[in-house]
Formats: sequence, C-alpha cells, structure tokens
Amino acid sequence: MEQRDRKAAHGATGVALIGGEGDEPLVMLHGFPFDPRMWDPQLHPLGKDARILAPHLLGLGQSRVPEGVVLSIDDYAEDVVAWMDTVGISRATIAGLSMGGYVALAMWKRAPERIKALALLDTKAEADSEEARRGRIATSRTLSEKGMAGVVDGMLPKVLSATTRRTKPEVVERVRAMILESDAVGAMAAVEALRTRPDRSALLATIDVPVVVVVGEEDELTPPSVARELANGIAGAKLIVITGAGHVTSLETPDRVTAVLRSLLLQH
Ligand code: MLT
Repeated sequence: MEQRDRKAAHGATGVALIGGEGDEPLVMLHGFPFDPRMWDPQLHPLGKDARILAPHLLGLGQSRVPEGVVLSIDDYAEDVVAWMDTVGISRATIAGLSMGGYVALAMWKRAPERIKALALLDTKAEADSEEARRGRIATSRTLSEKGMAGVVDGMLPKVLSATTRRTKPEVVERVRAMILESDAVGAMAAVEALRTRPDRSALLATIDVPVVVVVGEEDELTPPSVARELANGIAGAKLIVITGAGHVTSLETPDRVTAVLRSLLLQH
C-alpha cells in the first residue's frame, strides 16, 4: 500500500493509503478515534481483488486539522469523495465502521451515484441521544485537558468485547496504541461532528445497492439490536452478527470481516 498526501479542505492535511492489485474499487472508512490501521488484517487479502483507498479521516490518524476547526460528518464525506476524484475512482464499494459508517451514509446522501455497494459495520443511522450528546461534551473537555491519555482507559472496555480483552491482549494493545497516537485536536473536531450528526434513518429507504450490515455480538456502542434496525431499514440488506467481537470487528474477528467484505465485492 502506498501512502499518499494531498491538500484537504478546512485547512486539513489529507492522507490516504492506496493500493491493491485488483480492479474492484473499495473505499475503507475507519472509526473514531482510529485510523486505517484498523483495516490492517483486511488490506492485504482484499487487495488481491480490489483497488483500495483507505483515507485517514480529517484530523484523525496522520491527517491534521487546525485547532478550533468546526467539522460536520458531511465534511468528512465531502473529503472522501474528493479523495475518490483525486485517485480516479468514480464508483466504489464503501466499507465504513462506526464513524466510518456515518460518513458512508452521508456519502450516500450526497453522492449515491459514487456508491456501488455498502458494508456498514458496527454503526447506526440514528443521531446521538441527549445523554450521548452530554457525554460528547464531557469527552471533549477531557481531551482538551488531558489529551488522548485521558480517554483511552475508559474507551477500551467500550470498544472491545470482554472476549477480546480476555483472549487477545495483542488486539487490546494495538487498539490502545492507535487511540494514544491520535491527535487530540483532530479527535475534538471529530467528537463535535459526531455530536451534531443528523439522524439518517429516513435515508435508509432510498438505498438501492447491495448492503451488508455487520455487528459484533458484544458491541456495546452499537449493539446487535441497533444493527438489526439499520438492516431492516434497507431493502435487501443482509445482517451478520459476529460472535466474540465487540465494536472493532475488523481487528477482533479479522477473518470473518475479510470474508464478508470479499463476498460483497465479488457479488457485483
Ligand atoms: C466509532 O467507533 O467511530 C465511534 O464509536 C462512533 C461514535 O462514538 O458514535
């Protein structure tokens, strides 16, 4: 995979991984506060069939945003579409995990003609509840006072299943490192975008491409009941619940996620 830079909107730096030997375009959108390494186990196997674009979402991973920048989920979607233009991908399968899924739905609203199929992992269509919004404000305050170190210990049990925490210490360490390496300024911009994201439930009925919804059986943030609602809202969507996984299915149960994405890619 090749790392590519580009000037992005909102004063941000744009960074993406681009590679793969296949023809089938696949755009992989990571969650918060992660980066494209979240897809590491999938990149090589899927790269045999696909041409992969895995952007660092604005301000996350190796992308940087100026302090105080205000971003919406639509801004991330706009940036991903701009990346697709940059690398000459007109239409792609989009895989988005959690925040990546919110961005994928915003892309569907903005530019459905650019989307061939969707994999929505550990994500949902609803906006934040009032309680969740209050939680975002508290997270922002902690980020500004203590940086990523202030949030990492609270986040790990929420994003990884009890099974992963018990049996896969290397995954716990990988996720911990990814969170700690995130930039707190970019994370704060993302938290605000998450807090203000609109409800996309009404959009689901307009989705007329193949969709697979994936969720970890032990996902506490977007549990299987929420994933079922998401899948039920989209005609023909397939729901896959993965035993043993929490919220970061791509790292917790990598082979299952690779197989699901491969079969979606080969479906068209
Ligand atoms: C993510 O993994 O992207 C986050 O859990 C999204 C969220 O907090 O809503």
